[in-house]
Amino acid sequence: MNNGIATDSKNDSVDFLEYLPEKSLDNLNSQEIDLMNLGFLKTKQGYFYQDLSANNPLFEMVLIIWPGGTGSQAHDHGNCLSLSTIIPFGQTPNLTAKLHKIFQGQFFPDGEKTLKPGEFDVVLPFQVHEIDNPNQEAVMTLHVYIPRRK
Ligand SMILES: [Fe+2]
Repeated sequence: MNNGIATDSKNDSVDFLEYLPEKSLDNLNSQEIDLMNLGFLKTKQGYFYQDLSANNPLFEMVLIIWPGGTGSQAHDHGNCLSLSTIIPFGQTPNLTAKLHKIFQGQFFPDGEKTLKPGEFDVVLPFQVHEIDNPNQEAVMTLHVYIPRRK
């Protein structure tokens, strides 16, 4: 039946999320993909981010690409609760989340945990943390902040 929608029954079983992003991240590591041209902004620390939530007043959703060896600085999200997950692409490696405590206005290391692809990490309001990609491969993460960060 032709309902005007193009279909390709041979590809019905293809998991495009597993296929396409793995290819994209390989291209990122070999500098073949221009993230800025795709709407990503580059940070001083070398990772790329894009706001997907279009200034929605209720929450903020951000896609981040961490090239190998990049990481954030220690930071908190003010009064926001955040949920983060690594988007799994084939053999996506883990990231490291370092936790910090604050004493007299200074940050001190307070343990770390491993973030695994497909799992959710919760960062509580005013919790200080940092994310590092110690791998050679790039890693993509999705972050939701409720409410929006200021
Ligand atoms: Fe954060």
